[in-house]
Amino acid sequence: MCGIVGYVGTQQAGPVLLEGLEKLEYRGYDSAGIAVRNGSEDAEVVKTIGRLQNLVERTDGGKAVAGTCGIGHTRWATHGAPSKTNAHPHVSGNCTGSGSGRVESLVVGVHNGIIENYQELKAKLERHGYAFYSQTDTEVLIKLVDYYYRKYKVGPIDALAKTIVRVRGSYALAVMFKDIPDKIFVARKDSPMIIGKNDHETFLASDVPAILNHTRQVYYIGNLEMAELSAGKAVFYNLDGDVIEKEVTNIEWDAEAAEKGGYEHFMIKEIHEQPKVSEDTLHKYVFGEGKNVKIDLSEVGLTEEKMKAYSQIYIAACGSAWHVGMEAQYVIEELVGIPVRVELASEFRYRKSGILPNSLVIIISQSGETADSLAALRMAKEKGTETLAIVNVVGSSIAREADYCMYTLAGPEISVATTKAYTCQLICSFLLAVAFAKARGRIDEEQYRYYIGELLSLPGKIEATLSDKERIQWFAAKYANARDIFFIGRGIDYAICLEGSLKMKEISYIHSEAYAAGELKHGTISLIEDGTLVIGALTQSDLYEKTISNMMECKSRGAYLMGLTSYGKYDVEDNVNFAVYVPRVDEHFIGVPAIVPLQLLGYYLSVSNGLDVDKPRNLAKSVTVE
Ligand code: G6P
Repeated sequence: MCGIVGYVGTQQAGPVLLEGLEKLEYRGYDSAGIAVRNGSEDAEVVKTIGRLQNLVERTDGGKAVAGTCGIGHTRWATHGAPSKTNAHPHVSGNCTGSGSGRVESLVVGVHNGIIENYQELKAKLERHGYAFYSQTDTEVLIKLVDYYYRKYKVGPIDALAKTIVRVRGSYALAVMFKDIPDKIFVARKDSPMIIGKNDHETFLASDVPAILNHTRQVYYIGNLEMAELSAGKAVFYNLDGDVIEKEVTNIEWDAEAAEKGGYEHFMIKEIHEQPKVSEDTLHKYVFGEGKNVKIDLSEVGLTEEKMKAYSQIYIAACGSAWHVGMEAQYVIEELVGIPVRVELASEFRYRKSGILPNSLVIIISQSGETADSLAALRMAKEKGTETLAIVNVVGSSIAREADYCMYTLAGPEISVATTKAYTCQLICSFLLAVAFAKARGRIDEEQYRYYIGELLSLPGKIEATLSDKERIQWFAAKYANARDIFFIGRGIDYAICLEGSLKMKEISYIHSEAYAAGELKHGTISLIEDGTLVIGALTQSDLYEKTISNMMECKSRGAYLMGLTSYGKYDVEDNVNFAVYVPRVDEHFIGVPAIVPLQLLGYYLSVSNGLDVDKPRNLAKSVTVE
């Protein structure tokens, strides 16, 4: 999704803006641009398509653009194709060509989000003599600010307030006004934006890593709030134009944690961080030792009484987080005995069937900003249902709006394909399952301690799985030219397959599908031919034989079989061509080590094919549009 940055301070703005945009590259983009103001001169706008490096080269690393106040943007096209003209920043003035250069304009701005009623607003502005040069909703937004600023002759905050009352949709908006040098004005609704500050400089960005090299003092700007930023100062306003006080948050992450640290790609670095971040996440919620070990969710706010009272759980999420929900469903239903329904957030938000009384809706999201997941959360809250978020990004919209919030401690995840955040989400959902089971009397003290012990063993088991990575690397080299891959499994193994298959297709671009093993023969088996790779997940003892039978059906039609199972089940080699083993652990939780070989397989296939592992085509890390 688009990324926005802004800077006003004592340094030259260009290099700071480009550095910030670089840190936001993981969000996915197809063009980029900056606008920098030198005192009272018109903003100088530079836009390029393709990689950010093109913009870096065009501006000599930002040095070619003079001025200490500026805004920048990476665009992921929604309205209008990727082109220089549609790239941000956009201006309120008339603009010819692609929009680069010193553009005479009252307002220049960048925007992340979607303005839903932009066509109606565009028509209104056209009636007032505005002409449009791009196909974007953002140009309409910037011109609307210009319109209110001129028409009512109000200050910039009032003009922004009038604008945001009129638009429907989501926005993180940053604008500069020609007659107000050295200031940036921002407004936000439903799209991420943070403000950072030190004594002499002020920053804005879609995400914290963009500013961490400069400051750790961050403000979270709320929905329908605005701010006026000048060097070393940020003043916040509500929709009425009243000044509001904000608390500053000190970011404790290490800026290093958001760098590659010697690995070739963020994805492989993040895969290797899984033992550490799983341990951090477990120790955030597990306390004591021996007989006194316990899961403490008091920070989450979920009491035993609450856990006893629910009669139904819904889990809504997108992408990999939905796969976590699928796996959690099996584990929670089995350990807690409470019905669980897993829903794609994009579907759940529009369901007309209602939510059963006494339910808990769990929203799982790494970014805490995914538009559909946020809408699902709001829909549940509107219906009076209690909500619990499992979120990675502190202070994100979903974290702030949910009734209860359980943080994963995955740290910044940069690679578009999630790995460590997914694993931490699984761990949180397992912790919840065990805590619920205990609270509802489904397990006794001894079983409780056993499950916690098994959970605490997971970081070491991921580590052991990682030590076998060369075998996967070898296998990936052999299968680099695969055209289709099928993943099959039952129960928890099916959930593992869903994530394994997504890892494969999103970064290696090899077509792959995950099937509940028993379902393949109802149509899809017709696609199995000589040499097709079929990967069977075989971690669940009670379903092992059944899935093996389904794999044999594929083998007899020419498939090449890979089996993924646990140490000790060596007889799998009687049936499959290639076997991968992960350490044993209680089978409810084995999805944590078992996903690692599949993450590695996706990674190495992508590397073997020379692809852009961390920034796969067409994808975005944080999907803040519907
Ligand atoms: C995007 C990402 C996925 C992620 C999904 C949900 O599609 O590429 O990796 O699983 O969004 O994101 P969230 O931030 O809500 O977990």
